[in-house]
Amino acid sequence: MANRVVLAYSGGLDTSVAVRWLLETQWAKEVICVAVDVGQSDIEDQASLKARALAAGALDCVIVDAREEMANEFCAAAIVANARYEGKYPLVSALSRPVIVRHLVDQARKFSADAVAHGCTGKGNDQVRFEVGVHALAPDLTVLAPARNWGMTRADSVDAAAKWNIPILATKEKIYSIDENLFGRAIECGEIEDPWAEPPTAPYTLTAIRSTESKEVIISFDQGCPTAIDGVAMSVYEIIKTLNDVAGAVGAGRIDMVENRRVGIKSREVYECPGAMALIVSHSALEDICLERDLAREKQRLEIRWAELVYDGMWFSPLKEALDAFMNETQGFVTGDVRIRFDHPGLMTVVGRRSDTALYDHGLATYDAADTFQHADSEGFVKIYGLGVKTWAARQGAKNATPPSW
Ligand code: ARG
Repeated sequence: MANRVVLAYSGGLDTSVAVRWLLETQWAKEVICVAVDVGQSDIEDQASLKARALAAGALDCVIVDAREEMANEFCAAAIVANARYEGKYPLVSALSRPVIVRHLVDQARKFSADAVAHGCTGKGNDQVRFEVGVHALAPDLTVLAPARNWGMTRADSVDAAAKWNIPILATKEKIYSIDENLFGRAIECGEIEDPWAEPPTAPYTLTAIRSTESKEVIISFDQGCPTAIDGVAMSVYEIIKTLNDVAGAVGAGRIDMVENRRVGIKSREVYECPGAMALIVSHSALEDICLERDLAREKQRLEIRWAELVYDGMWFSPLKEALDAFMNETQGFVTGDVRIRFDHPGLMTVVGRRSDTALYDHGLATYDAADTFQHADSEGFVKIYGLGVKTWAARQGAKNATPPSW
């Protein structure tokens, strides 16, 4: 089917078995593994990850450090767009897939491969993100999805790994399916599949409670981009890491939702995204004082669309690019500081915001003696503003109070 395939490799059971399966079935003559570090904690032992890929039969295994890229380009854009899919989920997995896709395509070119492959099943969003993403960047490459075709259960995969001497730590029973990166962790399966059941605390790591003490921090933004915590300049990567730690310590940033997958399935998922949520609510609070009213309102409408596009695998698409241009255009004056407090158990609250470029005008807002608002101006404004409704009430409102009966 393909000569040389570049496989998106996680080091886990499925992608390890996929290497050998591609070779055994002759779907591929050669397999190159590419593992992309987007801030997941389990990629730290890189030597054993590489050894596993080679033991499975890979010709080579490349590990790409994309942590800064993930932070500066992908997480930063999501913060600017206050992105929360269906009002809740800050797109953790959806943000990492285009990063991985970019490096897959890059490595496919370097190794002169004619196909790329991923280990996703047919039920999820990630297959969509991989395939649409690859086709957007490299329409000539074939995409192979072994796990969508092989029909193996998890137990079958464990047996296959044993038969092929692939050194894998996985057991036949794995309760949760977890996807992790810098922006948070997505947890599925097990008792979470019952939407009535309270989420178990066992799989939490970022938000495992480590403190009951309240903590307040000041987050600084420059033109929409987070730049410092408590006055200490840091990279976006460091800021997210720091907030994962501080907010996560009191259990803040957990999300329990039933979401609509692209493929039409409703799915109950649990997320822990302390840093992402702290940054989004803080950024949004700063926009409250910096964005002109109509701009703010329109941006909120487009934020919903931005999040849907990214969730649906359209990171690399003309509409997403156009929306990015809009989002960036709005950020010129979004510069300032936000105070946010994290309280046990699981609370995060914006308690203050300030900006030298704020549109908030104390003289206009105040009810005390410093008031500069021209109260008399409102009289004519309100009369004309309400004129249409007043005319309607006089001519039609009272008479047509009963709706037609058809
Ligand atoms: N439902 C989330 C999303 O579609 C999380 C997916 C997690 N992926 C995974 N392979 N466990 O973005």
